[in-house]
Amino acid sequence: MRVLILNGPNLNLLGTREPGIYGADTLAALEARCRAHGSALGLTVECAQSNHEGVLLDHLHAWGALHRQGEALGVVFNPGAYTHTSIALHDAIKGVAPMPVIEVHMSNVHAREAFRHHSWIAPVAAGSIIGLGADGYLLALDALARRQAAGLS
Ligand code: DQA
Repeated sequence: MRVLILNGPNLNLLGTREPGIYGADTLAALEARCRAHGSALGLTVECAQSNHEGVLLDHLHAWGALHRQGEALGVVFNPGAYTHTSIALHDAIKGVAPMPVIEVHMSNVHAREAFRHHSWIAPVAAGSIIGLGADGYLLALDALARRQAAGLS
């Protein structure tokens, strides 16, 4: 079954962006880890990244349609800074329900600036994994596989 790893703004800069917070691995390395982990779980992992809110919406809509057709399990989504601002992404996740969208943040946003403490995504996500670095994406894939095994998606 297909799963999308969707990364939002500035995550294309992983590797050189604030390595003390986000680590030294590039987005390509992160995506390769996700593909390998997914394949060990029997999942086909596809990856996308965009710096544009509308493009992220389009991905969610397209995967919502795939989920309705029984072709996709869900989306693992790090919305970057749009987490804290985007009612449009909140509405999109509601709009593609019941497709599970798991919110991931590499850093512990609750230990950072106050403006990172609120998430428009958390109330509509199937769950949120925060502060565990790149491992968060792998744990989200585990969660999707377990949901599938439990007949939840
Ligand atoms: C982030 C946290 C956000 O606050 C920030 O804007 C990001 C990355 C994370 O993965 O920790 O771009 O989503």
